[in-house]
Amino acid sequence: MIIRDATPDDAGDACAVVRASISELCFADHRGDPQILGRWLANKTPETVAQWADGQGRSLLVAVEDDAILAVGGLAHPDEITLNYVSPRARFRGISSALLAELERRAVALGARDVALLSTETAHRFYLARGYADLGAPTGKFGTAASYPMRKRLG
Ligand SMILES: CC(C)(COP(=O)(O)OP(=O)(O)OC[C@H]1O[C@@H](n2cnc3c(N)ncnc32)[C@H](O)[C@@H]1OP(=O)(O)O)[C@@H](O)C(=O)NCCC(=O)NCCS
Repeated sequence: MIIRDATPDDAGDACAVVRASISELCFADHRGDPQILGRWLANKTPETVAQWADGQGRSLLVAVEDDAILAVGGLAHPDEITLNYVSPRARFRGISSALLAELERRAVALGARDVALLSTETAHRFYLARGYADLGAPTGKFGTAASYPMRKRLG
């Protein structure tokens, strides 16, 4: 498995991974509610993902094995993690941990001293175990019950 910057050519496959991760893994967040899922998935299109890969003030990373994209991570420069989605078929293999570490390295390289993200309910324990702390009360996003603003000091 390697982690590399995405190119616009990755957009179709990366988009499919993000959509499957949200739909199949984040049930604790959307609870199968089609309206929540619809809002969440609305901007997860190949066209939008291709824009995220433009390198303009943001990084889009992909974890790749045997030419297949297994996870997608995003960083808004320098210090906000915007995406961290693993394929359902690649869950619990250390891939999100590796991708998160690479996003943090990228933030450090850009001069960030800490990094922020908005966690799903699904991933909240995962981030707590990796040094992230809650920053106040959870908020709702896309109509989900709880999204957790979190921050981690780097270095
Ligand atoms: C929760 C999630 C982010 C973890 O990603 P992953 O690539 O599966 O995770 P890793 O293999 O790197 O980390 C392993 C985690 O799963 C646990 N795990 C490993 N094997 C497992 C198994 N067979 N069954 C259950 N849990 C297992 C590990 O204990 C570890 O969790 P912990 O250290 O916090 O206890 C991912 O599975 C997920 O559900 N993603 C959905 C998308 C999402 O919510 N993204 C965050 C957007 S902010």
